[in-house]
Amino acid sequence: MYDVMKSVSSLRDTTPPPPVHVGIIMDGNGRWAQARGLPRIEGHRRGMETVREVVKGSIELGVEYLTLYGFSIENWKRPAAEISSLMGLLRLYLRQEIKELDERRVRMRFIGHRSLLADDIVALIEEAEEQTKENTTLNLVVALSYGARQEITAAAQNIAQRILDKEMDVDAIDENVFSEFLETGGMPDPDLVIRTSGEQRISNFLLWQSAYAELVFTDTLWPDFSREDLRQAVLEFHRRERRYGATG
Ligand code: FPP
Repeated sequence: MYDVMKSVSSLRDTTPPPPVHVGIIMDGNGRWAQARGLPRIEGHRRGMETVREVVKGSIELGVEYLTLYGFSIENWKRPAAEISSLMGLLRLYLRQEIKELDERRVRMRFIGHRSLLADDIVALIEEAEEQTKENTTLNLVVALSYGARQEITAAAQNIAQRILDKEMDVDAIDENVFSEFLETGGMPDPDLVIRTSGEQRISNFLLWQSAYAELVFTDTLWPDFSREDLRQAVLEFHRRERRYGATG
């Protein structure tokens, strides 16, 4: 018995640790629906179910931070009816899921321009953040009305204001200090960024933070993305050698 336990634990020792932070650009809901002759919102609704699965999968894998690109700042250019259905789904998600997420000890956080969101959504977001703030199993970060260039610009403005107010020295600014002024201040950078649906773009998602992230692109449309697909992306991450610009 003892030998079995010993070999199990040595097996565990050889398993590489999971990526600490996984970011996902969830894409392909519209195409998934279109391929089935369904309205686009049905694709988003199924996409919301995928979010549930991927949260559970991330907990199983031991991921500490999962950042989901839920709604980009550019998504405000979509037809009003689609925006309103997406916001409806988000309300539903926030109302229905918080209890279970809290029970699973998931901490929820949101990044992006809250001022563009409806007041009741902002209230739900704040409630979710407050209710789950002590949880430590998984940090679920939802990027909503988010754009990385806008985030970086806002950080530069805040720093410039501090300098004008003589609260900061120009020399004090380095990469670490700059990172703290981003909305993700205090969070680790993503190790792995996944984009579904065959598109190979970053689309204004965590531009600063993803400087050294491994990028995994999959043809699977987001509503079809499964826990197994997440596990495969993590395996691909493990197959890559991360050198951070140094030699091997
Ligand atoms: C991209 O598909 C997806 C979105 C713009 C929205 C993602 C939203 C969800 C998964 C719903 C719930 C979200 C949360 C965070 C609870 P697309 O419409 O761009 O697809 P297409 O490229 O095929 O048209």
